[in-house]
Amino acid sequence: MSEQAWYEQFRAMFTGLNRCVFLNSAGVAMVSEPVREAVTQWADLGQCVTYDYNAIIAGAKKNAAAIVSGTPEQMFFSRNTTHGIQTFILGYPWQKGDGVVIADCEFPANRLPWLSLRDKKGVDVKVVKSQKYKVTLDDYYDKCDKHTKVIAISWVQYLSGQKAAISELGKFCRENNILLVVDGIQGIGAAAMDVKAMQIDWLSADGHKWMCGPEGVGLVWASERALQIVQPACKGWFGVKNPFDFENFDQDYAPNADKYLDGSPMVLGIMAFNAALNMLLSFGMEAIEKRVLELSSYTINEAEKRGFEVLTPSNPQQRAGIATFKPSSKPSSGDPALIMKNLLDNNIVCSLRGGQYLRISAHAFNNHEDIDRAFYVIDKSI
Ligand SMILES: Cc1ncc(COP(=O)(O)O)c(C=O)c1O
Repeated sequence: MSEQAWYEQFRAMFTGLNRCVFLNSAGVAMVSEPVREAVTQWADLGQCVTYDYNAIIAGAKKNAAAIVSGTPEQMFFSRNTTHGIQTFILGYPWQKGDGVVIADCEFPANRLPWLSLRDKKGVDVKVVKSQKYKVTLDDYYDKCDKHTKVIAISWVQYLSGQKAAISELGKFCRENNILLVVDGIQGIGAAAMDVKAMQIDWLSADGHKWMCGPEGVGLVWASERALQIVQPACKGWFGVKNPFDFENFDQDYAPNADKYLDGSPMVLGIMAFNAALNMLLSFGMEAIEKRVLELSSYTINEAEKRGFEVLTPSNPQQRAGIATFKPSSKPSSGDPALIMKNLLDNNIVCSLRGGQYLRISAHAFNNHEDIDRAFYVIDKSI
């Protein structure tokens, strides 16, 4: 298959692209045809007398594990990124005075739950100060001391698009007996992840951005040591060895990550998510990452050509699919809210973030023409 062919095939799976220019994979994913078919398939299955949803979930778990190069036994489906992070927080054996390090530019999903530990458990939550939504690993290291138990970080920062050097951080965490919790939502599906090589302990991400799934179904992957340390906050009927042995109240927890399950799984969402994962895996994450990086480079070049302030790092190793810039060359020119309105009026979907920054997030199914059309409207609006 030629390179040209694969991403055009990918594009053809998004029939909504006939109606708009979609440059917002860092927002909420556009629904693809495989996802639409999976939703219909779920409805058809629901009209049968019975169906084997355990097999459906087991198959989906294989794909969810594959997208992060993990093992299915060490993962479970969550309700969203926040839920995955909360499962860690509620299950960790906190002692008063334990330390957590986060940054001030984390999305609330990876910030609010940690901050709440200050009041609830007396945990010392130290906050790294970012510069224009970017952080350095040294700032994290400086905040750590012998009480630090956890570092929680986004793989890719939601506004600047800065991609953290997780492998380096993972090494530091192992050496210092710290658990590394990663919010992966802005990276997984856009870039190839290897949870084991990166030494991540707890990875949480909803499926509704770069993974092209629906909102409300995510994945969590846990390292061996995290599985030992983090206990389920409460026994759920799906979190035991045999959920269908209804009268057995002395059951042990399910082995591995299934112990964190609560009640009935969201089969509809899992089927839709699985269809999206299948689609991504059929093209391969390496090829997708290469293409995504090429498109974010192209966007950055276009913004730089116009003299715009670009927030996203130019080094491809420090970014994935997000490209964010201030759409003005002079402090007085360009009202970002008006530019955003003009883009939407022209059926071009991207995001305004931080009140002044345009975030263009092109997936591998996008092309240069999509980005050119956005810049055409931006140019006309300044
Ligand atoms: C970095 C990051 N984390 C998490 C989320 C979403 O969290 P949740 O899946 O809990 O809704 C977003 C965006 O919505 C995000 O950009």
